Amino acid sequence: MRTVLVTGGTGTTGRRVATFLRARGVAVRTASRHPVAGDDQHVIFDWADPQTFAGAVEGVDRVFLVAPLSDPDPAAAVGGFLDAAVAAGTRRVALLSSSAVTDAPSGLGALPPLVRDRVPEVAVLRPSWFMQNFVGSHPVAAGIRERGEIVTATGRGRVAFIDPGDIAAVAGHLLLGASIPDGELILTGPQALSYDEAAAMIGEVTGTSVRHTSITAEELTTAIEAGGVPHDYARMLAGMDAEIAAGSEERITTTVRDITGEEPRSFRDFLLDAHRARSAHPAGTVA
Ligand SMILES: NC(=O)c1ccc[n+]([C@@H]2O[C@H](COP(=O)([O-])OP(=O)(O)OC[C@H]3O[C@@H](n4cnc5c(N)ncnc54)[C@H](OP(=O)(O)O)[C@@H]3O)[C@@H](O)[C@H]2O)c1
Repeated sequence: MRTVLVTGGTGTTGRRVATFLRARGVAVRTASRHPVAGDDQHVIFDWADPQTFAGAVEGVDRVFLVAPLSDPDPAAAVGGFLDAAVAAGTRRVALLSSSAVTDAPSGLGALPPLVRDRVPEVAVLRPSWFMQNFVGSHPVAAGIRERGEIVTATGRGRVAFIDPGDIAAVAGHLLLGASIPDGELILTGPQALSYDEAAAMIGEVTGTSVRHTSITAEELTTAIEAGGVPHDYARMLAGMDAEIAAGSEERITTTVRDITGEEPRSFRDFLLDAHRARSAHPAGTVA
């Protein structure tokens, strides 16, 4: 193996993938739009600027791929990138998708078939919703911090929230392994919780009262739009909540354990660690 390129390499998942691989002695190049002070293995890379692709993929044989965020039709950018990567010698891609995304002719759902068409060895990771949405900069976390409130359109639907550290471990194993296993890679945590239950658990762990308010998908679309998100994207996000309300995210899989040999982290353990980290560094960001 030569070098693994981690796109979105400074983000929630990519950062953890890079750490996992480097801890095993793998040469890793992280890629994103902003420089990382003191990291000479990071390259400036922008999905909107194809001129940045060649420098990112040079000497790379495996890629962790985080697609352009908020791009309603990411296939054009990703297709051009994959052409450059395969020409440079890339043989394997682990694509970060989502349990809420199914294969489709356009949008995020177009990416799995696109990558499979172009790259010899492909793993499509379909994680459920991230535990990290409850901390850091995500709107759910901001609502908790600013108003003690989580607003969704999920009703009583449950979600098998997953720690991105577990996603990164799966990605790392798949990027380093001898081959890619067959079948769907739906990644979940060990327990499905409604947002009511998650809010109650946050209260137990932190001692701070948090409530969950469930509104309609239409109301949520309007609220997301008010934050500057384009209407169609806001409607797509609210639609994902409606799917959760209908039970789409309740399933629990053994994929993390099957691939890594480790049990995925529970939401309670995640909260305890995040709370300890915040107590130790009150001004810091838990990400
Ligand atoms: N949150 C969830 O619950 C959830 C659940 C399932 C799946 N997912 C999937 O997870 C993915 C997001 O992953 P994440 O949460 O790890 O990401 P993230 O924390 O939002 O970080 C995004 C990363 O992408 C980089 N980036 C942003 N725009 C870019 C651009 N135009 N060109 C190049 N790099 C760019 C960012 O760095 P710079 O700013 O420096 O460019 C950063 O490194 C999405 O595809 C989403 O569908 C999320």
